[in-house]
Amino acid sequence: MEWLIDGVEQMEHLAEELASSIQSPATWALLGDLGAGKTHFSKGFARGLGYAGDVTSPTFSLVQEYHGGRLPIFHFDWYRLKSAAEVLSIGWDDYLDQKGILLVEWANLFPELWPKPTLQVSIEILDSRRLVTLRNID
Ligand SMILES: Nc1ncnc2c1ncn2[C@@H]1O[C@H](COP(=O)(O)OP(=O)(O)OP(=O)(O)O)[C@@H](O)[C@H]1O
Ligand SMILES: [Mg+2]
Repeated sequence: MEWLIDGVEQMEHLAEELASSIQSPATWALLGDLGAGKTHFSKGFARGLGYAGDVTSPTFSLVQEYHGGRLPIFHFDWYRLKSAAEVLSIGWDDYLDQKGILLVEWANLFPELWPKPTLQVSIEILDSRRLVTLRNID
């Protein structure tokens, strides 16, 4: 499935819609260059899962947890991580066991860590617009 998105609000709205029907744990891998809109997608996504708090980029904190929605959300950003081993050392496998939503910015850096299935969201920059492609990787 793909969508052509014009502006931040549309991006957040799409993510909110996608998240609004989620009932079970899953991993969502967000792909896209710097400034593609991964964090804006994450904001709408958390809202769609019923989380009412702030969502910010976890670039420095590595992972942020959002509790209070239909499922807990673990928001990662792998941009600054050097290896898959480093991701494992912050407890990746434990997060996978937590029965929540794993939402990962820069997930393309370590595809070997993706569980099966993973929902892949690719965001391509087209000037001010974005082409968003959703695929189930099984
Ligand atoms: N259609 C669009 N969807 C999302 N963001 C857009 C769009 N058009 C322009 N932008 C701009 O692109 C930027 C996206 O920022 P955002 O932090 O969400 O990107 P990111 O992919 O998380 O970047 P990073 O790789 O640094 O984490 C914002 O500054 C926003 O204003
Ligand atoms: Mg970001």
